Amino acid sequence: GRCVVAVDGPSGSGKSTVSRRLAAGIGARYLDTGAMYRAITWAVLRSGVDLTDAEAVAKVAQEVDLRIGTDPQGYGVTADGVSVDAEIRGPEVTQAVSAVAAVPAVRALLVARQQEMIANAGRIVVEGRDIGAVVAPDADLKVYLTASEAARAARRSAEDATDAVVTAADLARRDHLDSTRKTSPLQQASDAVVLDTTELGIDEVVQRLHALLTE
Ligand code: CDP
Repeated sequence: GRCVVAVDGPSGSGKSTVSRRLAAGIGARYLDTGAMYRAITWAVLRSGVDLTDAEAVAKVAQEVDLRIGTDPQGYGVTADGVSVDAEIRGPEVTQAVSAVAAVPAVRALLVARQQEMIANAGRIVVEGRDIGAVVAPDADLKVYLTASEAARAARRSAEDATDAVVTAADLARRDHLDSTRKTSPLQQASDAVVLDTTELGIDEVVQRLHALLTE
């Protein structure tokens, strides 16, 4: 039957790996909403508009043809027909994404797209910062993953092979941006199950979520 799982948390909390594994394990689709914000950011950078010009940023977001797959084993992202899978993980996009994601019109556009994709999926695991609170308040299971700052920085630098000090600084910067602005994307739903993954392996986290789903 229908089943929507919302997985939220800051970067390095293990969201992506856990969400993909859980989706593959229960035969569900998988939606990486961060990749959508990153693809819009890529289009904004390509356009050359000023990142602080909310109206211009929103216009680029409205005009770009953004497509994203939902296969947990491997999904592609394209913007105006260009495959941007590698580019959206690069330092330029990572540096600019919080500013783009803070533009209310960008959020409204992507939240609507995400809700449409969820409505059209039978079972789906959706990963992001505002899924349980905003995108899918009626989700069957809401999970909020946390981990110590040190654990999150270590995981992220192992993932993208950048220097641990640089990664820690970038995470701290984005955490701050994502949690202090008026339109803060990172939101913990009041009815979310909170899991601290600092001392937990990926398999353990996935097992716990599995158990919660079959309860
Ligand atoms: O790579 P990392 O896990 O840190 O982030 P991501 O999930 O790829 O998301 C990148 C950025 O997009 C975040 O830092 C947020 O600024 C923004 N984002 C958002 O505003 N809302 C979401 N639902 C997902 C991501």
